[in-house]
Amino acid sequence: MVKYQGNMMSLRKFVAGNWKMNGTGENLAEVRAIAEGAAGYSSVDCALCLPATLIERAVRAAPGFAIGGQDMHQAASGAHTGSISASMLVDCGATLTIVGHSERREEQHESDAQIRAKAETAIAAGLQVIVCVGESDSVRGAGQAVATVAAQLDSSLPQSEGAAAQLAVAYEPIWAIGTGKVPSIGDIGEMHAALRQRLIRAYGEAGRSVRILYGGSVKAANAAEIFAVPDVDGALVGGASLKAVEFVPIVVAANPADG
Ligand code: PGA
Repeated sequence: MVKYQGNMMSLRKFVAGNWKMNGTGENLAEVRAIAEGAAGYSSVDCALCLPATLIERAVRAAPGFAIGGQDMHQAASGAHTGSISASMLVDCGATLTIVGHSERREEQHESDAQIRAKAETAIAAGLQVIVCVGESDSVRGAGQAVATVAAQLDSSLPQSEGAAAQLAVAYEPIWAIGTGKVPSIGDIGEMHAALRQRLIRAYGEAGRSVRILYGGSVKAANAAEIFAVPDVDGALVGGASLKAVEFVPIVVAANPADG
């Protein structure tokens, strides 16, 4: 059997910021600065996933720049106090959403099945969706990271016809989020190669075009090295996405040398 060498297809990189529960109207100037800074790097897809309260204003502040949500409910509408639906995101001008971030898996006890349902609903509404997966410190320590994350991916992926075309996956080790710790380049490569194979198993050839983002303490200083790993097709960036001076250099690092 030929050993997997990495995706033969070079995918356009995708760098998405995740502001989490940060940002009010006064931060719209940063959204604008990020959109303007990223505009010079048109070979990279760039987006900001913002608090729901900022989405519509951000779309107006940065026309043409992709703005997304950080979560949404799997139901179309109904008695779900405090939740927002896919059509509400679309109505605000969002073009994408994150689902299954580890902070929601942990704090809101979201299951793989629920995340799959959210992804299906997002796709049906015409949104791009970033499905997050990642292992805890103890799972990595026990040598179970690849098996655990691959299983998590298998049960979180949307299964509807054509879903792959609107999908990205973010591999985010929980212990690397907001900690300044990053897995070794070898460990990132091993995980992304395993996830690529699961995507091909799930979607056939279309699985080769699904972008696999790395997330967890990505910064300007480590981005280029991470982006050079086979099957790393971009990044999901938390803390370093809050300021244009930190985020735009990550977009620059994702821009191909000849782009
Ligand atoms: P971080 O967060 O970049 O602050 O580590 C990443 C994320 O949680 O998406």
